[in-house]
Amino acid sequence: MYRTHNCEKLRINNIGEDVILSGWVQKIRNLGGMTFIDLRDRYGITQLVFDMNTNSDLCLKARKLGREYVIKINGKVVERSNKNMDMPTGEIEINISDIDILSKSSVPPFTIENNTDGGEELRMKYRYLDLRRQTVKNSIILRHKMAQEVRSYLNLNDFLEIETPVLIKSTPEGARDFVVPSRMNAGKFYALPQSPQLFKQLLMIGGFDKYYQIVKCFRDEDFRSDRQPEFTQIDCEMSFVEQDDVINMFEGLTKHLFDKILNIKFKEKFPHISYQDAVNLYGSDRPDIRFDMKINNITEIAKGNNFKVFDDSEYIGGICAKGLGNYSRKQLDKLTKWVRRPQIGAKGLVYVKCNNGNFKSSVNKFYSQTDLEKWAKKFDANSGDLLLILSGKKTEILFALGELRLEIANRLNLRNNNKYSPLWVVDFPLFEKDETGNLRAMHHPFTSPKTEDKQLLDTEPEKVKANAYDLVINGVEIGGGSIRIHNNEMQEKIFDLLGFSKEEAKAQFGFLMNAFKYGAPPHGGVAFGFDRWTALFNNSESIRDIIAFPKNNTGKDIMIDAPADIDKKQLNDLHLRTTVKF
Ligand code: AMO
Repeated sequence: MYRTHNCEKLRINNIGEDVILSGWVQKIRNLGGMTFIDLRDRYGITQLVFDMNTNSDLCLKARKLGREYVIKINGKVVERSNKNMDMPTGEIEINISDIDILSKSSVPPFTIENNTDGGEELRMKYRYLDLRRQTVKNSIILRHKMAQEVRSYLNLNDFLEIETPVLIKSTPEGARDFVVPSRMNAGKFYALPQSPQLFKQLLMIGGFDKYYQIVKCFRDEDFRSDRQPEFTQIDCEMSFVEQDDVINMFEGLTKHLFDKILNIKFKEKFPHISYQDAVNLYGSDRPDIRFDMKINNITEIAKGNNFKVFDDSEYIGGICAKGLGNYSRKQLDKLTKWVRRPQIGAKGLVYVKCNNGNFKSSVNKFYSQTDLEKWAKKFDANSGDLLLILSGKKTEILFALGELRLEIANRLNLRNNNKYSPLWVVDFPLFEKDETGNLRAMHHPFTSPKTEDKQLLDTEPEKVKANAYDLVINGVEIGGGSIRIHNNEMQEKIFDLLGFSKEEAKAQFGFLMNAFKYGAPPHGGVAFGFDRWTALFNNSESIRDIIAFPKNNTGKDIMIDAPADIDKKQLNDLHLRTTVKF
């Protein structure tokens, strides 16, 4: 028998009991004639005590143990004289009668405690050791709990959990595919799913009217802290629904998770904001509305004073940084550099310091105090505030202001991690233009246009709005979905607008078009980024923290050393030749 209890279980009322525990040696301390060991397992830590005076052999054996040895001990629970009330088991310790070394350990490459000395790369290489640390372990446990609560809510609402295949054909979610060569079909490749989008639609046609799956998706994208090449979605689809039905069902799921995981009860409905308003007011399609600081458009009132930069701009707008009117020249210069970085892309920054009806700005040459007062009114600025203004092409400047807004909010500590502000972003455009001016699906090509906009498809397709929605919490896009097209006429039209020839559409999506011929119910759904959601609830900076075995920022698993070479024979079997020399 390895254990009668786990390392978190024993308390003062167990005193006098003979117990067996197994676990890892976290720490050994020798104090005079006594040796103390912190024994750790998944559940917690229990202190073991060895006394040189009563059993010197055993005590000497204990002193020879190393960190991370796996041991089994027999002993009696005793009351501690020096209690540690910060630990659940801190009132007791185990007086040991026997130790068994189950497994020795080399000296671990970093300290396996909450405050570790290991850098990120090192901890990823030894991820199995990192997983032993309480903070990392807790993140993985949180993830488990969230998955169970997702299942519990969806099961209760009659959803069926159904698996879909992983070796499939490309689904256009906008990223590059990971592909798998086929041995049995020379020169052919499977693609790994970027999402189960088409399969969940086919399940609706198959008559399963409520589907979900907690499912791996694969996207070959550039690195960001909220992206992984393989990630997990809570993927859902429903039949006979309109946008509000889907939103209501999944607002319910969101509230359920907030309640069960964080004990936060949202009573009110989540706000809805249109895509256009989100961009105009927050400079983002995933606005962080924990704080206000909306963008103000001053194009009308700021033009016409011979300030060429503004006069030549399509759009002039800014934000009001509350209380930053005392920013020094140096700080403003730094901020100007910040907005000029390529990621932000602004050409320059105009500022106005508001001070008791006196306005000091970088454009005092062109604007009178009365002009600047007008701006300050528009921004609702008070004495002590700082207006930060950018100008240029409308969309670019709005997104730049969105970034500046977040930066200022960080400086003002407005992004409180204990506050959660969920909202739905709705009324997305159906299309956006790519770099070459061609139309591209903003969500994906299976998203339906709003009924009232259908007549614009032939004339002004960029103006058509979609039945699409995103759930955003604290500036993170947690999920997105849409009501789908469920007839061939519309699907063909959209493929056509997206530049697919009839033949291309048939070759890539023939199976869907065929299925639509046999009675497709109206349907729609949503997918949530499960990693992002868990990271948000865990207060993690990166989704890596809540994935048991994540990839690094070049898509590598440095623990198992993947991706790796394969041998010539395997390549031959797969009918492949690489241009890389072995
Ligand atoms: P979408 O592409 O918006 O929609 O993806 C849904 C959600 O998945 C998360 N996500 C990611 N998380 C981590 N790493 C990534 N690389 C990554 N990419 C996306 C985001 C995102 O909101 N099939 C549609 C859904 C639908 O229409 O029902 C889809 O996949 O949180």
